[in-house]
Amino acid sequence: MKASALSEDKVKKDNPLNDNVRFEYTPTDKAPVPELGTNRIPVDRYTDPKYISLEDEKIWSKTWLLAGVESDLQETGSYFVFENLRESFLITRAADGGLRAFYNVCQHRGNRLKPVGCGHATQLTCAFHRWSWNLDGSLRYVPEADDFPQGTPASELGLVSVKCDTWGGFVWISMDPDIEPLEEYLGVVPKHLAPYEFEEMVLVSDETIEWNCNWKTSVDIFSETYHVRGVHPESEFIADDVNVQMDVYGRHSRFIAPMYIPSPRKIDETKSLNEVMNDYLKSEGFPVQDFKGDVTTLRSAVASHKRKMSEETGLDFSQLTDDQLTADYHYNVFPNITFNLFGEQMWMFRHRPHPTDTDKMYFDRMIFNRVPKGETKADSNAGAVDLFVELGDQVLEGRPEHSFYRHGDRSSGLLLDQDASCLQGVQEGLHSRGMRGLWISNHEIRIRNFHHWWEKYIGR
Ligand code: FES
Ligand SMILES: [Fe+2]
Repeated sequence: MKASALSEDKVKKDNPLNDNVRFEYTPTDKAPVPELGTNRIPVDRYTDPKYISLEDEKIWSKTWLLAGVESDLQETGSYFVFENLRESFLITRAADGGLRAFYNVCQHRGNRLKPVGCGHATQLTCAFHRWSWNLDGSLRYVPEADDFPQGTPASELGLVSVKCDTWGGFVWISMDPDIEPLEEYLGVVPKHLAPYEFEEMVLVSDETIEWNCNWKTSVDIFSETYHVRGVHPESEFIADDVNVQMDVYGRHSRFIAPMYIPSPRKIDETKSLNEVMNDYLKSEGFPVQDFKGDVTTLRSAVASHKRKMSEETGLDFSQLTDDQLTADYHYNVFPNITFNLFGEQMWMFRHRPHPTDTDKMYFDRMIFNRVPKGETKADSNAGAVDLFVELGDQVLEGRPEHSFYRHGDRSSGLLLDQDASCLQGVQEGLHSRGMRGLWISNHEIRIRNFHHWWEKYIGR
């Protein structure tokens, strides 16, 4: 079904840019459903350590990986380190203004050049014996170079580079020198997401949480809303987990999940708003007391309210439809990136593999806010709406500090705590002799598609 129940025409009519439309709305057509079969999905891939090296060889080194945010590399000498499995990458802004990405490894005896995180440097110096490189990776200085009988040729000893490009305000890298250009790899995603203007958003929260599951169980759970009734019972009252449009675009995919309308299981014959919805609306500043409609007209009213409030909040929603203002547009980029898109916020989830343990993974969560019109990215944190996320007392000035913790050490907000707890149980179950493979529904087609592509890459 087509999830976009709200009229785009209305938005266009109300939109002052209508006379001179300089963008295309995010398409909402249902994509053709590929034939992917109905077999069980084998489970040894979640538990057998041999897949750590197989995925390293066949997937992680053959795809484009989201390495970090471009805004961390604003000046010459800015750098950050991104780790994936056994590899560590150093990404720099070189003197010519361009970005470079290298394996983060000293060419003398293999020391890591920089620890994980962001920084600034005029040169890249190894702390072991003080060899150094320029920001473009060329060899700069070798102490006592005369003592090397084979010489220290710059042509041999530059840092080993990997491919590097940008899209959506993110830096992407690939270890595969023959991979297609990033834009081609991303397929429909850049065009679909252009109206959200990721590049204009500001990072307000940056966390890594160690979860007790394989990275693929995490990709799986974020690909469907079937688990809402079991794992997120509160969400049933404010979001429709059933009338969700699933779209597959080659190795990438999307769902559109309507919000501000309860699950059909929670709508009674009066169609009146439930208490949880009422409280949620109040927390967002929606004037519930003035609303005379029911669950069938609420989304439209919320969208109008958000547009009306934009004069105060400064948030420019002119490129987004009413449907986008009242739904979760959710995209997966193969292999391990999830974008949750709302009018006010974007969440980027990166499901990173653990280097040695199939039962662990790193869940990276970055939250971005839309910047009010007229404010610069640097000084703006206004207009933030927490939606489902508890940002706590996060320091929002400048770049938020990255924090790392393990599941259970502290809360990541109700929704993620629920997902992480569930996934620990799933991971334990996947080890059982009694588990004979995943049994997948139509609704879960994004999971089947992910595994179809995983198998293609692995070479089954
Ligand atoms: S290992 Fe880096 S300078 Fe020796
Ligand atoms: Fe969930």
